[in-house]
Amino acid sequence: MKKIKINGGKELEGTIKISGAKNSAVALVPASLLSDEIATIDNIPNISDIDALNEILEYLGAKVVRKDSKMIIDQTNLKNKEIPEAKAKKLRASYYFMSALLGKYKHVEMYFPGGCSIGARPIDQTLKGYRALGAKIIENGNKFIIDADELIGNEVCLDMPSVGATVNTILVAVKAHGTTTILNAAKEPEIVNVATFLNNMGAQIVGAGTSEITIKGVSKLGTGFIEVIPDRIEAGTYTIAGALIGNKLKIENIIPEHIESLTSKLKEMNVPIEIHNDYLIVSKTDKMKKATIKTQGYPGFPTDLQQPMTTLLIGCEGTSILEETIYENRFQNIPFLNEMGADIIIDKRKIHINGPKKLLGKEVIATDLRAGACLVLAGLKASGTTVIKEVEHILRGYENIIEKLANVGADIILVDE
Ligand code: EPU
Repeated sequence: MKKIKINGGKELEGTIKISGAKNSAVALVPASLLSDEIATIDNIPNISDIDALNEILEYLGAKVVRKDSKMIIDQTNLKNKEIPEAKAKKLRASYYFMSALLGKYKHVEMYFPGGCSIGARPIDQTLKGYRALGAKIIENGNKFIIDADELIGNEVCLDMPSVGATVNTILVAVKAHGTTTILNAAKEPEIVNVATFLNNMGAQIVGAGTSEITIKGVSKLGTGFIEVIPDRIEAGTYTIAGALIGNKLKIENIIPEHIESLTSKLKEMNVPIEIHNDYLIVSKTDKMKKATIKTQGYPGFPTDLQQPMTTLLIGCEGTSILEETIYENRFQNIPFLNEMGADIIIDKRKIHINGPKKLLGKEVIATDLRAGACLVLAGLKASGTTVIKEVEHILRGYENIIEKLANVGADIILVDE
């Protein structure tokens, strides 16, 4: 069992380079299946979620070459096979394969996807998109058998701006007959990255990044290239680390606009932060003001930074309030933070963080990816030693987290015992 051990209190100084975005890469890899030739994705993060997708690609017969951060995927011998439950359950993004295969072959058999256990995470909006384009769905327990004689473009109005349902509807519409319009689409930068990749291969998608996306079906996709955008959640996590315990910590390879909801909140809180073209510099302060934050879809404050941000709010004078509007079970980090010395009260979808409180190192559990990131930050700040168990969740989404933090002065190691 892998654990992360941190001796806290060490100032972070130097540069952290941000990797390719997990939530883009995990959609781009399955999207590549829509090409009938060779697709190349650069700036792929080296995380275990990508390994799990790579396994599915190879299982389907794609030839994958990975060199440094490049992934070259040859689809010429691809077969449409049922994806086994164990592979589908490894991650949420496995359902992008369901849509890419349905879009390409008009038939797919797959199981309910996995992912962090942070709420119910239904896939009804994705299925609504499939049905609108003419697919028939048979649900057999956890298994979906989906067929379409023909996929025909249609209007799909999402009940909520779901990232997954937006990407899935794009994937299924790219090769459909006629035009599909997605209304109330999610506007996350990762969606723009996926649409750009598909357009580079010959798709005709307009409006990605806005709430109305139009997809004119095409019969064939050729070769294509894309570079994964920088990971805004990784950038946000390390920026929070800098605000917590940094001394002019430089976070480079970022798109500042993608993390504006965080950086503007940090400025309101009095955190010293300088933002440049593709990097920022952030330091700690002992004059941090409390904050009120509500998670929202992009460009609002991201749910994926809610848990890391909680660690920072523990050090603020007064009561900060954080409201989670996206997932109903994203407070599993709170009991551990309280054991470490925080005073946080959960009130339905809100937490009240009474500060400032000092943190003490403890043995804690990473219940999910971003809860794990929150506890790493808490360990960096705490006095004494923090041991984080079940760190597989963290390694799914943060490339080289141990090396990146150790390089800027953290006393952090991965132990396998
Ligand atoms: N929802 C439904 N029905 C659906 C789809 C979504 O009710 O068919 C609800 C969800 O239950 C949730 C909300 O809509 O309450 C938003 O879910 P969304 O579909 O946008 O999330 P997702 O696509 O499953 C992606 C990221 C998440 C990130 C969210 C929100 C990937 C692989 N995952 O999830 O990332 O939190 O968007 O931005 O892209 C993470 O990286 O830690 C993570 C969980």
